[in-house]
Amino acid sequence: MNLNLTTKKIDVEIEIILVTKNSKKIKNDKEILKSLNFKGEDEESALLPELGKLYVGCETDDSDNIRIAIATAIKTLNKTNFKSASIKCKDNLSAYIDGFELGNYKFDKYKSKQEELTQEDKNIYIIVDNIDKKIQKEFEESISICESVNMTRDFVNTPPDDFYPSIMAKEAIKIAQENELECKILDEDYLEQNNMGAMLAVGRASRHRSKLIHLTYKPSGKIKAKKKIVLVGKGLTYDSGGLSLKPSDFMVSMKSDKSGGCAVLGVMNTISTLNLPIEVHGIVGAVENMIGGDAYKPDDVLTAKNGKTIEIRNTDAEGRLVLADCLCYAQDEIKDIDYILDFATLTGACVVGVGQYTSGIMGNNSQLNHKIIKSASNSGELTTTLPFNRYLKKTLKSEIADICNISNTRYGGAITAGMFLDNFIKDENKQKWVHIDIAGPAFVESSWGYNPHGASGAGVRMAIEFIKDI
Ligand code: BES
Ligand code: ZN
Ligand code: ZN
Repeated sequence: MNLNLTTKKIDVEIEIILVTKNSKKIKNDKEILKSLNFKGEDEESALLPELGKLYVGCETDDSDNIRIAIATAIKTLNKTNFKSASIKCKDNLSAYIDGFELGNYKFDKYKSKQEELTQEDKNIYIIVDNIDKKIQKEFEESISICESVNMTRDFVNTPPDDFYPSIMAKEAIKIAQENELECKILDEDYLEQNNMGAMLAVGRASRHRSKLIHLTYKPSGKIKAKKKIVLVGKGLTYDSGGLSLKPSDFMVSMKSDKSGGCAVLGVMNTISTLNLPIEVHGIVGAVENMIGGDAYKPDDVLTAKNGKTIEIRNTDAEGRLVLADCLCYAQDEIKDIDYILDFATLTGACVVGVGQYTSGIMGNNSQLNHKIIKSASNSGELTTTLPFNRYLKKTLKSEIADICNISNTRYGGAITAGMFLDNFIKDENKQKWVHIDIAGPAFVESSWGYNPHGASGAGVRMAIEFIKDI
């Protein structure tokens, strides 16, 4: 699919028309649409090939309704052999682009027979009133962001035997080369020499060596960075649960436990095209959590990079161990941080608590938490806050070490995981840190909105919007 921006009416096979309920736009085709029982509801479409029209329901002109309606349109077109289509766009161009680019996504690399219809040669024309610099920029930026979301989706969807820590590192190097970013890949020797005993233990039973990925974007030329932001991602390329093995039904889809890390790579892939006066660091802990004679165990006590000792009571609470060391690394290596955000598929409890469509936002600075919620909502992602409190904090106490890796209560698991991470945030950064649990939306079991089954790319758009808003 090729998206084109134009001011002229182009001769195309199909004109896409978004209609709200009782819209006047359908006046000429009222009867035929009635006979097709088209009501103009969400995710509803009516193709009238003889008239060269595709009507799509769009309940309001709110961004998310536009995204969903456009995704419905492109999915309908993809079932046909039509090669060209146009749509008028008065406002909110980026929502139209999101709908096309994200709604058109398919992951069919592993099908032995690719579907015959080639989507690549479809030409879509978005007709706007005029094309000035601002519109052109919005068009190019939105496409770039969507491409990064789709790249993140590809990474996450790739099976664990084809996407393990060193592959993740290779992808990071490629992103760095293409975008002129600095790139450091640190191996297990580095982790050992730098006392990152928590991250190191999680990957010990895997045949794949763990990698710590660190990408840096610095504005080019004379532009001086006004702010410094650090993104940290959980990159568990597979989470079997370790010796606290997951039940089989819960293990399926755990290739998606790298979603936070892949989202960070997605952001780093777009950041240089935005030309912002901001220094951005992307740090990913790429690790595989497996079983074996060398596996770390419940009852082990690990020491993280900041010297804190952690009693392991469940090896399936591994993401927080990897993040603990990555957060320490970030704060030791990067001075004068303005914001530090971590993205992780951290807890099933978050999905139970807020549902599979929403990410949980946690941290010590409620104003900053709300800023993230606003950026997320503007970008089309759903989030909500989960507040810390002193009582849940106590449930992480250990009799023998500084802290336990799981809490002693069945309740509030998303929050206690967030509060565990807080132990690895330096005092000077407490108000600058936000933890984002994307366990719900990162992987889509049954499609919703413009997300097909599989990875959604959760986190990418909200992070970019936040960085743009700074
Ligand atoms: N990767 C999982 C969390 C997860 C669950 C992500 C479902 C996406 C969907 C994480 O490592 C984990 O296993 N967490 C445990 C923590 C528990 C042992 C305290 C969980 O949520 O059950
Ligand atoms: Zn786990
Ligand atoms: Zn995990």
